[in-house]
Amino acid sequence: MIVSLVIFVMLTAFFVYHDRHVCVTEYEIPAPFAAKAVLISDLHNASYGRDNRKLCKRIEQLNPDMILMPGDLIDSRHTDYKKAREIVTDLCKIAPVFFSMGNHESRKSDLDEFLAFLKQENLHILRDEIHETDYCEILGLDDADFGSPDHSAIKREFLRNKLNSIPPKKKYRILLAHQPQFYDLYVKCDPDLIVSGHTHGGQIRLPFTKGLFAPGQGFFPYYDAGFFDDLKVPLIISRGLGPSRIPLRVFNDPEIVFVRFYKKD
Ligand SMILES: [Fe+2]
Repeated sequence: MIVSLVIFVMLTAFFVYHDRHVCVTEYEIPAPFAAKAVLISDLHNASYGRDNRKLCKRIEQLNPDMILMPGDLIDSRHTDYKKAREIVTDLCKIAPVFFSMGNHESRKSDLDEFLAFLKQENLHILRDEIHETDYCEILGLDDADFGSPDHSAIKREFLRNKLNSIPPKKKYRILLAHQPQFYDLYVKCDPDLIVSGHTHGGQIRLPFTKGLFAPGQGFFPYYDAGFFDDLKVPLIISRGLGPSRIPLRVFNDPEIVFVRFYKKD
């Protein structure tokens, strides 16, 4: 009985620690420029440290040139706009922040007011828009759920239509697109790198396997997490930071992705 209790307490402590322990995953990517980017996705209104100070401090230490946020800053089930704005305020003091919409943003009927609230913080909100920097362009796509929350065929048609109207790129193009399973459509806008989230790493990562489940893909999703550098266009899927419907992550620490672009010879 005592042994079972000790094992239970130890396992609980192990999972809770890893559920709250943010790790940094680093990737190096050749590009026509040198720069550092932080990718944070799927915060879902979570907090790391009081007012997310711990999380912001960790990001600040990485000294990024840009911060990429491909959606689900809020959670539609327990939305806290004030908290979302607070972290945006702090992140915008570190580097330019680029934010595209996730499926949780798509569910909010008062999204325009929320975005107007965020815009006061110099956040670059990219809704099927391109922001051009000195060395690259960043394109943010509205999530496919803005087309339909349920029907995959309508989502695909929605994405296909708007991808047709994206202008040709002038520079190295980074695409922010929330749900990675639409990769085959995203490549149509000629990106050089795609960054996504949404999957939460498959929520439960069994040792030596991929993630267990991702919304929109089901069990053992192909697009679960990590750097897919062998595809036609490289794709990074962040495991994300916050919980959503399932409150616990297993063998799947919340993640900050750090991308070091290095100049090709
Ligand atoms: Fe999502």
